[in-house]
Amino acid sequence: MNPGRFIAFEGGEGMGKSTQARLLVEHLERTGEKAVLTREPGGTPGAEAIRNLLLHPPGEGWAARAEALLFAAARSDHVERLIRPAIARGEWVISDRFIDSSRAYQGIAGGLGDEMILALHDHGSGGLRPDLTIVLVASDAEVSERLQLRDGGTADAIGGRDDAYHAQVNAAFRKFAGEETGRFALVEGDGAIDDVHRKVLAAVQPLLESRQ
Ligand code: TMP
Repeated sequence: MNPGRFIAFEGGEGMGKSTQARLLVEHLERTGEKAVLTREPGGTPGAEAIRNLLLHPPGEGWAARAEALLFAAARSDHVERLIRPAIARGEWVISDRFIDSSRAYQGIAGGLGDEMILALHDHGSGGLRPDLTIVLVASDAEVSERLQLRDGGTADAIGGRDDAYHAQVNAAFRKFAGEETGRFALVEGDGAIDDVHRKVLAAVQPLLESRQ
């Protein structure tokens, strides 16, 4: 059987990833493909429970290494129970965030380094990489407007970190995309949702053609 395809959306806070992931799944379904929409941290009952622990931590919050391990544990369950089986069935998996979020947030902005994050990913998830990772980038002004609309000032434990942390996250995603142009597509997320969707479809087109 033709194996499925795995696409991740990545980027900092308020880039419109969830909307674009949903629109892509709807597009794929209209063209007759089977597509699963999922997210990280989360996607399975266990990983969703870990998500809650990460975003609303008990007590004083997680130390940096424990936080990275929890993301890796959630991802391990997600990969084993949802992502790999769906790919094996020939389906598309569209995930709102994946390993590059851990590289950007915990590895770069959190200071743990890429090597540790990738080692955890090798142990937890066999080092699985998406076929394509779409990094959405937008101007600071547009992002803060979207975040205000979405969170109204009630961000979670990670979204609520300071501007310097999020600036490092955003710079890290741009760097990753520049380093591995074959695996990443950098898409400008500024502007109308439909225009961004069209740019996403253009980035996905080679994968669609490779299925025919
Ligand atoms: P979301 O708001 O996009 O659903 O993601 C939840 C938060 O978790 C967001 O602030 C990014 C953060 N995150 C990490 O720090 N590391 C990761 O590996 C993932 C998947 C998310």
